[in-house]
Amino acid sequence: MHVSRRLILALSLSIEGLDAGYGAVKALRGVNVHVEGGQTVALLGTNGNGKSTLMKCIMGLVRPSRGRLSLTIEGKAHDLTKLSPEDIVDLGVALVPEGRRLFPKLTVEENLMLGAFRKVARRAIHRNLTQAFDTFPVLKERRTQLAGTMSGGQQQMLAIARALMSSPRLLLVDEPSVGLSPLLVSQTIAKIGELKQSFGLTVLMAEQNFNQAIRIADRGYIIVHGEIAVAAGSVDELKANDIVKRLYLGGTA
Ligand SMILES: Nc1ncnc2c1ncn2[C@@H]1O[C@H](COP(=O)(O)OP(=O)(O)OP(=O)(O)O)[C@@H](O)[C@H]1O
Ligand SMILES: [Mg+2]
Repeated sequence: MHVSRRLILALSLSIEGLDAGYGAVKALRGVNVHVEGGQTVALLGTNGNGKSTLMKCIMGLVRPSRGRLSLTIEGKAHDLTKLSPEDIVDLGVALVPEGRRLFPKLTVEENLMLGAFRKVARRAIHRNLTQAFDTFPVLKERRTQLAGTMSGGQQQMLAIARALMSSPRLLLVDEPSVGLSPLLVSQTIAKIGELKQSFGLTVLMAEQNFNQAIRIADRGYIIVHGEIAVAAGSVDELKANDIVKRLYLGGTA
């Protein structure tokens, strides 16, 4: 598929000083994250550190109590804190949620159609369905199978394909590796890397699996207790970081 370089580069997500929480629970504190068009950025952190909360803030599903969340497209800045989740989808942001959140009693194809529920996305439904089936042939073979009867790996593919049905430019993927065998984790991560190329996507991926995430990431952040503990400009910088060595690489630093 032809991808316009201009389109990819003309997008950036800027998160500055973001606080968010649930009542008395402070889940994010002063978070600064930047994602430039065409990049794959890893948001790394173990359980309960705020990865999903940050994803939900970007989608407008959790409202921050402080800070800026701005998506710039073609030079125009959009304040995501003021937009509904539906409007954020229309801007070209899609979330592959943690735990996949499929409709188990609906077929593969019906689940995909639900990814295109917005008017903007419905216009491109046939093109996107063809692309989804080309990208994930197993979904085409199993288009009439109930989603809940698919294997974990197939369900993750379906969740990713469903997100692609809204023609996103920025894809948020929340812990794609959860619940999958090591081989499937590896295949799923590789697929996300391929998609970035073939669909011209910009990707922000939350992961606990450090070694898998850095296979496809250009840069990354480590989030600890709701704060960005490490912001690395490259994977090499990430690997060399003392906090990373201690948390993920078994080092004694
Ligand atoms: N709906 C909620 N109500 C109250 N507290 C919540 C809610 N969702 C998350 N939290 C809390 O916010 C903090 C951050 O949770 P979050 O789900 O963002 O972490 P995470 O990094 O995605 O973890 P995991 O890897 O387990 O998915 C945790 O302390 C969690 O208990
Ligand atoms: Mg989470």
